[in-house]
Amino acid sequence: MSSQKRTFHVCTQGPFCCKLKQEPTLERPNPPTEPEEVLAALQAAITDQKLSEELEAAGGGCLGLCGFGPNVLVPSGGRRFLRYRQVTPADAAEIVQHHAKEGGERIERLLPCPTDKRRLPD
Ligand code: FES
Repeated sequence: MSSQKRTFHVCTQGPFCCKLKQEPTLERPNPPTEPEEVLAALQAAITDQKLSEELEAAGGGCLGLCGFGPNVLVPSGGRRFLRYRQVTPADAAEIVQHHAKEGGERIERLLPCPTDKRRLPD
C-alpha cells in the first residue's frame, strides 16, 4: 500500500533551490543538476533495486536548504529524516541502497557541511 511506503522527498518547486552560488568542493566539484533529474534517478534506482513495494520518490516543496539543491529528504527511521544537499543523479542508487531499510547508514558527503549557514540537525 502506498501509505506504508517510505518516501524520498525531492524539492522541485523552489525557484532558488539550486540557483545560489555554490563553492565547489572536492566531493562536489561540479555545478548542481536539476532536481527533476535527481527525482527521476531516485525513481529509477528504486525500480532497479526492486524496492517499489517499500520505497517511493516524490517531488515537492521547500526542505529548508534553499540554495544548496538539489535537496532530498530521506526517511531514516521512525519520525527522523536526513537532509541531503547538492545531490546528483549519480548519487541516487547509493541513496536508495543505504536507506532501503530504516536506520540505514547515512552518506556523510551529502550532509550539509559545517560551513553551510543553514546546517540542520539530523
Ligand atoms: S527551495 Fe528547495 S529547499 Fe528551499
